[in-house]
Amino acid sequence: MKPYAVYPLMDITPVKAEGCKIWDSNGTEYMDLYGGHAVISIGHNHPHYTDRIKSQLDKIAFYSNSVQIPEQEELANLLGKVSGYDEYDLFLCNSGAEANENALKLASFKTGKKGFISFKGGFHGRTSGAVALTDNPKIVAPFNASHEVHILEMDLAQVEECLKKHDVAGIIIEGIQGIAGIHTPSEEFLLGLQKLSKGYNVKLILDEVQSGYGRTGKFFAHQWVEGLKPDIITIAKGMGNGFPVGGVLINPEMEAKYGMLGTTFGGNHLACVASLAVLEVLHQENLCSKADELGNYLMEKLQGMEGIKEVRGKGLMIGVDLETDAAPVRKELIEKHHIFTGNASTKNTIRILPPLTITKEQLDIFLEALPQVIQSTSAQTH
Ligand SMILES: Cc1ncc(COP(=O)(O)O)c(C=O)c1O
Repeated sequence: MKPYAVYPLMDITPVKAEGCKIWDSNGTEYMDLYGGHAVISIGHNHPHYTDRIKSQLDKIAFYSNSVQIPEQEELANLLGKVSGYDEYDLFLCNSGAEANENALKLASFKTGKKGFISFKGGFHGRTSGAVALTDNPKIVAPFNASHEVHILEMDLAQVEECLKKHDVAGIIIEGIQGIAGIHTPSEEFLLGLQKLSKGYNVKLILDEVQSGYGRTGKFFAHQWVEGLKPDIITIAKGMGNGFPVGGVLINPEMEAKYGMLGTTFGGNHLACVASLAVLEVLHQENLCSKADELGNYLMEKLQGMEGIKEVRGKGLMIGVDLETDAAPVRKELIEKHHIFTGNASTKNTIRILPPLTITKEQLDIFLEALPQVIQSTSAQTH
């Protein structure tokens, strides 16, 4: 048997990682400005994180959700405090797609309706409902396409028209669109969605899978908008710093009922302590405000750089539009300068999603390399 080849792979084999650094099997050192796809929040192999997981492994790694798991209570309690959503409930699962799938199911159960609205450019994962609401027909199989979905422009009039005509249970939107190339919905739009949701008995779901956990300088990206309080918030990626874990934050008005949601692995002991360690480090090392500060520094330096058309984002969730294709630039950044960056669905965009523990000195290395690479790649194409 061999792995199912669903991704084109770089010829790099990471064998060791620490903070923002990765070493491959040849001993070459890399800088990680991609954070393993926005997953690494507190830095690779943070000592507090590895200690927490190792000592839990020596006690108990797993038992099913049919028994008391105090680590779940501890996690819900700390997450409530750190995120500002103390009164919400937490359902634990294993990935971002699964978090969204459960959020959709919950909204449908609670409203008794089945349609959903999402937005152009959005990505919500690869499970049935989540992928149906993702704006990429190439990854939607005929089986997934049977859901009632309305993928709209970010336009309140369009949303209201859809709500009037159809039986809509919920609206799902990313805090900041990631794969689309880092696009932030406007405050007016988000607040307008909130108002429409209340008026039409529809649940507002904020997908914070990529934009959550301090990445944008606030715990959740939507917290940049005063007065916005979604019914449901979904989390994953940065939550476990690489440990597979996801979650759904649920307004307590949506009371739980036995059997409504369920999971075998969600909320297991190891996932809970990994997630607790992440929250402890985020708090101790003040990583939200660090992300804000360093993100502003980086964006300021990138703005106006030759060969760059636009810089967008918040905190350490940054999209850089080049005047040329991003692929050769990213290739040279990794091959010559050993810097990982991310791509986006738009060809000329580079996505920057480093661990939130990155230093100014490490960002300066990138700021020195990028103009050289832009210059040398544009000389090759002209
Ligand atoms: C905004 C958003 N939602 C959901 C997902 C799906 O998460 P997962 O790959 O953990 O299922 C992703 C993954 O990239 C994402 O960026």
